[in-house]
Amino acid sequence: MSNNLKNAIIDSMNNVLESINCDPWMLDPGITYLNHGSFGARSLPVFEYQAELKRVFEASPVDFLDRQTELLVSARTTVSSFLGADVDGFGFVDNATTGIGCVLQSISFEKDDEILTSNLVYNGVRQLLKRVASDARCLYTECEIELPVKNQESILEVFFNAISRKTKLVVIDHVSSSSAIVFPVQEIIALCKEKGVLVVVDGAHAPGMLNLNIDELDADWYVGNLHKWVCAPIGAGFVYASPPQREKTHPMTVSHWYGQGFTQEFDWQGSKDISPWLASAKAVEWGAAIDWSKIRFHNHALATRMQHCLVESWGVEPLSPLNGSMIGSMATVPLPDSCPQTMAECSQLQDQLFTQYKIEVPVFELQGRGYLRVSAQLYSREDHVKQLQMAISQIIA
Ligand SMILES: Cc1ncc(COP(=O)(O)O)c(C=O)c1O
Repeated sequence: MSNNLKNAIIDSMNNVLESINCDPWMLDPGITYLNHGSFGARSLPVFEYQAELKRVFEASPVDFLDRQTELLVSARTTVSSFLGADVDGFGFVDNATTGIGCVLQSISFEKDDEILTSNLVYNGVRQLLKRVASDARCLYTECEIELPVKNQESILEVFFNAISRKTKLVVIDHVSSSSAIVFPVQEIIALCKEKGVLVVVDGAHAPGMLNLNIDELDADWYVGNLHKWVCAPIGAGFVYASPPQREKTHPMTVSHWYGQGFTQEFDWQGSKDISPWLASAKAVEWGAAIDWSKIRFHNHALATRMQHCLVESWGVEPLSPLNGSMIGSMATVPLPDSCPQTMAECSQLQDQLFTQYKIEVPVFELQGRGYLRVSAQLYSREDHVKQLQMAISQIIA
């Protein structure tokens, strides 16, 4: 990246930041928080709104859950509209894992059917897919995406070559958790449609990070989290089902409204705290007041900058192009060669960074090599990466 381009990115990022009047975050300012990607973070107004909802619930629990149903209808409408998803196919769940579970249980797999995903699948989802495949005695396949990834076409090609006549369901990440790479989901979905294969997008990281229009993507299902990049309270995820899949898609917890329609069923999944779902609408409004496109621009520019700084100072090969064309608000960078590379050593390094340096960043092994993943959010600063660089240099020394 040229110095001119670099400076232009920094300038526009700083301009965006100056134009934003951002509320305080709940994060401990003593921690250098570079891991927004795992569980997100909440701003003060969203946190307080949820606390208020809980107070209102405790004051009159039956009234809140049984009569104030318009709160849920309103939250569903706000959030689905933000994501460009038809509200009639949109149901809240607690998290993306539960959402994938809902989708899997709505499909009947026969022996010799294949569930296809990639080797970059989120490990929790991998286990779920393996379990379903094992119960149905069907095939579970991971197509191999080689790292580093040079362009989106190479990912599409891997799926093109992997889909066979046996493939019944393709599970694709929108933003891969480990590599932080944004998959060409639109093209992969089109490919699946062409081949008559069902497709679910695991969009755990996408809402709030990418400009989504779920209806336009036209997947059979789209599952996502709101507690990561929409900054909603933890416990807010969703399942979107396309019109042909709605009738057979049910929540994991089937209850009173079974068979009464998609949104009815998802609105009641047994007695539970629905404040994260309700407050997710507040989080959408919080971002809209700042301007979601500015948030996305800032986070992407800073993540690109962070990736560049780390790659340059460690002299490592980037996982994806340094111009930021394949990432959103996170970047995964190989550790310097002199760093530990096994999973156990990486976990130890992650703990050491936290306990000794108060830096929260995920460190992990992927395809036999150590990596770390940095996240950029409005509270992140370029200086955070400098602190990380210094800590890693001291540890290596
Ligand atoms: C791609 C992907 N899928 C699924 C999940 C699981 O999310 P949750 O733990 O909220 O269910 C994650 C979590 O980081 C993820 O990155």
